[in-house]
Amino acid sequence: MSAHLPITLSVNGEELTRRVEPRETLADFLRRDLGLTGTHAGCEMGACGACLVMLDGLPVHACLIFAVQAAGATIQTVEGLTESAAIADLQSVFHTRNALQCGFCTPGMLVAAHGLLSRCAMPSREEIRDALSGNYCRCTGYEAIVDAIETVARRRAGEAASSMAEEPA
Ligand code: FES
Ligand code: FES
Repeated sequence: MSAHLPITLSVNGEELTRRVEPRETLADFLRRDLGLTGTHAGCEMGACGACLVMLDGLPVHACLIFAVQAAGATIQTVEGLTESAAIADLQSVFHTRNALQCGFCTPGMLVAAHGLLSRCAMPSREEIRDALSGNYCRCTGYEAIVDAIETVARRRAGEAASSMAEEPA
């Protein structure tokens, strides 16, 4: 029987302390211990991107790190990004652009897109493709997903430009 280790971390804005098995992955911790099943477990070997979460502001594969390695970290799952409305426009445009079918890959796609747009406000289609290169989708093909992310980037840029124009000099 393996000993459980205490970890403290922030998940979706909430500070938590839990005891975890040393070999429990962050994906299993989020899904089983916290019930955050939006983090999907697909390949569980770092290839499909379904398990992406934001860790200290960067997208990481939750299947590739142990929960104990996330001690002290700030995690945002697709649920947290949804509740804060940080990805509301991405979710809406994924829907209107038909960028999902079964939806299994979608949480990972949204986290990858969020990570990309957080570090690059106006990515090229090539950069969007590159950011999604670790995310598998078996249903839609990637064209609609790239379209959706490009649309959101343009909208956000348009909104930022018009809010700057409205600011008093
Ligand atoms: S489940 Fe983590 S990359 Fe596939
Ligand atoms: S929508 Fe089904 S795997 Fe992407």
